[in-house]
Amino acid sequence: MKSNLPDFAWFNLPNLPTPVKVLFSGYLLAIGLGLCMAGLQIMQTHGMADGKPGLSLDDIVYSYYGNRSGSKLESKLNGSMNEMGTPEARLDIIKWIHNGAPETEWESQFKNIFSQHCAQCHGSIAGIADFSKYEEVKKVARIDEGASIQTLTRSSHIHLFGISFIFFFVGFIFSFAVGVPKWLKISAIAIPFAFLIVDVISWWLTRWNPSFAWLTLIGGFVYSGAATIMWFISMYQMLILSRNGKIYGNAWEADLK
Ligand code: HEC
Repeated sequence: MKSNLPDFAWFNLPNLPTPVKVLFSGYLLAIGLGLCMAGLQIMQTHGMADGKPGLSLDDIVYSYYGNRSGSKLESKLNGSMNEMGTPEARLDIIKWIHNGAPETEWESQFKNIFSQHCAQCHGSIAGIADFSKYEEVKKVARIDEGASIQTLTRSSHIHLFGISFIFFFVGFIFSFAVGVPKWLKISAIAIPFAFLIVDVISWWLTRWNPSFAWLTLIGGFVYSGAATIMWFISMYQMLILSRNGKIYGNAWEADLK
């Protein structure tokens, strides 16, 4: 960098010294890949919650609110496991579920029913629930109440701490951008934090009332969108805009006005 420059004229994304650019763009590359993986993971976990691929409102409702109209065992017995066992056996199992699937009747009666009609697969095929054990049956016989408070507390604090760190540095790097109107810079930096909080609060609201699921969807889309815009502008200015040799001046000083 030439030494006859005005003070801090290099203090902007296109004119930063190369070591700093390497630091910033290396970070953005790794974070960008991480965000794509996070998207994939959401598709794999929440995306399949309603049994259909792709993320939908139903997935969010099933993940956080659950399916309180009945247990998984009962809906399977009326669904894809409909052909298994005799109608009497299915009816007995459904009555037992409605009574809370008490363990007292397991040994005497239901262990047998399950081993007769279900165990040729459940208990011998790896990867599907083993119905020779009461605990495994009990798990699918419970009404699905969605995410537990413990799960929500854990993922809330991990999300808030972890993602704020990402947004802090992405926003910090973006604050060196040139030619971005001040109001746009402020919005792009503030929106991810605001919608991260909206997103996390919406999980709790959805657990309580499924009609809040749309808030989760909007929160996630808006903060990913804002982070993506900052990502592309920052990378463009550091790696491409810098090639015209122009000196852009102090980016922070420009925002004082
Ligand atoms: C011919 C093999 C076979 C038999 C017999 C069978 N199942 Fe299944 N079951 C499967 C397979 C494969 C899956 C996983 C795919 C799916 O969810 O449809 C499954 C999944 C399930 C699930 C979902 C478990 C989970 O954790 O998601 C339940 C509940 C279930 N079966 C109940 C039963 C009951 C009750 C019986 C006996 C009346 C039974 N099944 C008999 C093959 C079988």
